[in-house]
Amino acid sequence: MGFSTDAIHAGQSPDPVTGAVITPVYLTSTYKQEELGRHKGYEYGRTHNLTRSTLEKNIAVLEKGKHGIAFSSGLAATHALMSLVKAGDHVIVSDNVYGGTYRLFELIMKDYGIDFSWVNTSILSNIENAIRKNTKLVFIETPTNPMLSLTDLAGAAEICRKHKLTSIVDNTFMSPYFQNPLTFGCDIVLHSETKYINGHSDVIGGILITNDDKIHDRLRYVQNAIGAVPSPFDCWLILRSTKTLAVRMERHEKNAVQIASHLSKSKFVKKVYYPGLTSHPHYELAKKQMRGFGGMISVDFGDIETAKKILKNVKLFTLGESLGGVESLISHPASMTHASVPKEKREEMGLTESLVRLSVGIEDAEDLIIDLDQALR
Ligand SMILES: Cc1ncc(COP(=O)(O)O)c(C=O)c1O
Repeated sequence: MGFSTDAIHAGQSPDPVTGAVITPVYLTSTYKQEELGRHKGYEYGRTHNLTRSTLEKNIAVLEKGKHGIAFSSGLAATHALMSLVKAGDHVIVSDNVYGGTYRLFELIMKDYGIDFSWVNTSILSNIENAIRKNTKLVFIETPTNPMLSLTDLAGAAEICRKHKLTSIVDNTFMSPYFQNPLTFGCDIVLHSETKYINGHSDVIGGILITNDDKIHDRLRYVQNAIGAVPSPFDCWLILRSTKTLAVRMERHEKNAVQIASHLSKSKFVKKVYYPGLTSHPHYELAKKQMRGFGGMISVDFGDIETAKKILKNVKLFTLGESLGGVESLISHPASMTHASVPKEKREEMGLTESLVRLSVGIEDAEDLIIDLDQALR
C-alpha cells in the first residue's frame, strides 16, 4: 500500500465488539484470566496493551519495519538502546545530536562504564577510523538537530555490517514519510514521536523500529523489564496523528522551502541551514536518501543581538522547545535544546550563540514570512 493508505489503516481494524472504526483506548491495568495460566494473551498493562500494540504495528509499517517497540519518550527509547551494550563496550555517535541524547550518553551512561566517541559521521571514514575492538553500536542522527547535516545511510550501514556493529538512526527530523533508514540496511530506527509523528504538541513519546528478531526480542524484554511505557491515551493520540502524517509533512516542507529561500536572500541573515537549498553541502545526498527536505531550518544571524531581536519580536512563531507540531516554533539551541553540550563542542559544529532554529508549521507560508520580516525590522 502507499504511505497514506498505510498511515490510516496499517495495524488497525474495526473493534470486534462494537465495530468502532477507531481503535479504543484500553484503559486497564490488568485483565481477567479464565483460570490459572489461561488468558487471552493479555496479563498486565505494562506488558500488553492493545492501543499500544496497534500504534507499534502502525509505525513499524510506515518505517518499512517488522517490529515497533513504543516508549514513554524519545529519550526513554534511546535509554532502552543502552541495554544492547554493557560496561566496557564502546559506542560511536554523530557529534551533533539532540542535546538530551548527548546528556544521556555522556553524563549518565558513561558512569555505567560505556564509552562514547563523538565523530562527524557525515564523513564516513570517521566512523571506520573510530571503530575499536569493543565497539558495539553506531548511533547516527540525520539530518542532525540543529545543524541539519546528513550522513550517508547506505554507506554507514555497509561499514556497520562489515564490522558487525549495530547501526541506529534517529529519524525524528524526517519522520517515516520522508526517510526510511531500514531500507538502506540500518538495523534500528529511533523516533521521538513527540515531534512530527504526533505533530500536535500534546504528547511525549518514543519508538524503536527494527527488522531484526533478536534485537526486537531484547528490546521488547527491556520495554517490560524497565517499564518506561507510554500511556494508552498517549498511544491513542499518536495513532490519531499518524493518519494525517503525509498531508502534514507535505505542508511543513512546502512552507519550509519558501521560508528558507526567503531568508537566504535577507540582508540580516549570515547563513541558512536547510537541506533543500542547493547551497547545502549535502543537497545531493538529501535528494538520494530522502523523499523531501522536511520542515526544520536553522538560521545564523551572525550576531546574538539580531538573534535575540527575532526571538523576542516574532508574533506567530512561538518561542519554545520542541519541534514538528502544526504550529510554528522558534528556539535558541545554544541556551535551550543544546545547553548541556559544552560551548567549545557547540561552536566546533557551527552551533553558535547567534543560531536560531525554526520548526516551520503548517500555517500559511505568507503569514509566517510576514512575521519573520516584521520581527527582523
Ligand atoms: C532528534 C531528537 N531525538 C530525540 C529527542 C528526544 O525525544 P523526547 O523529547 O520525546 O524524549 C528529541 C527531542 O527533542 C529530538 O529532537
